[in-house]
Amino acid sequence: MSLLTELIYISELAPTARLTQVADVLNRARANNQVLHVTGILVFDGLRFVQHLEGEQSVVMQLFRRIQQDTRHTNVRWLHDSLIENRRFDAFFSGYWHDDSPDGAIASLQNYSGVGLRSALHSRIGCFDLVS
Ligand SMILES: Cc1cc2nc3c(=O)[nH]c(=O)nc-3n(C[C@H](O)[C@H](O)[C@H](O)COP(=O)(O)O)c2cc1C
Repeated sequence: MSLLTELIYISELAPTARLTQVADVLNRARANNQVLHVTGILVFDGLRFVQHLEGEQSVVMQLFRRIQQDTRHTNVRWLHDSLIENRRFDAFFSGYWHDDSPDGAIASLQNYSGVGLRSALHSRIGCFDLVS
């Protein structure tokens, strides 16, 4: 039986990475995740990424290990994972929200954990300028 899992992490754009590489990341993520049946959201605020991934447990964990190795971002910190009964996202969405302030919406997520983190992320989704 396949187990459905969600995972949330936060990271920072690598100092050596260019902003234009974020578009490359999104394009790869969309194409790959469709094949992997992974859904979720990737939000970027010009400095930090926060990504919520959901899908079959082994697939999500393997994908996260791959993402962790990606040199376009750094300081990748796992924030939450748990088994879920249903997906929250029907498709892979990308969000872009520009805010350079250290107390921005993404930065504030670090104060949460577990399901509280997930709720905090989702309550902030409305303030992200989502591009699907
Ligand atoms: C912030 C961030 C988020 C990423 N998210 C995904 C993702 O959701 N799915 C994915 O396949 N790759 C994602 N990637 C890219 C992977 O690290 C990796 O480059 C890619 O999966 C390789 O795909 P390829 O073998 O098809 O070239 C992400 C990279 C970064 C920096």
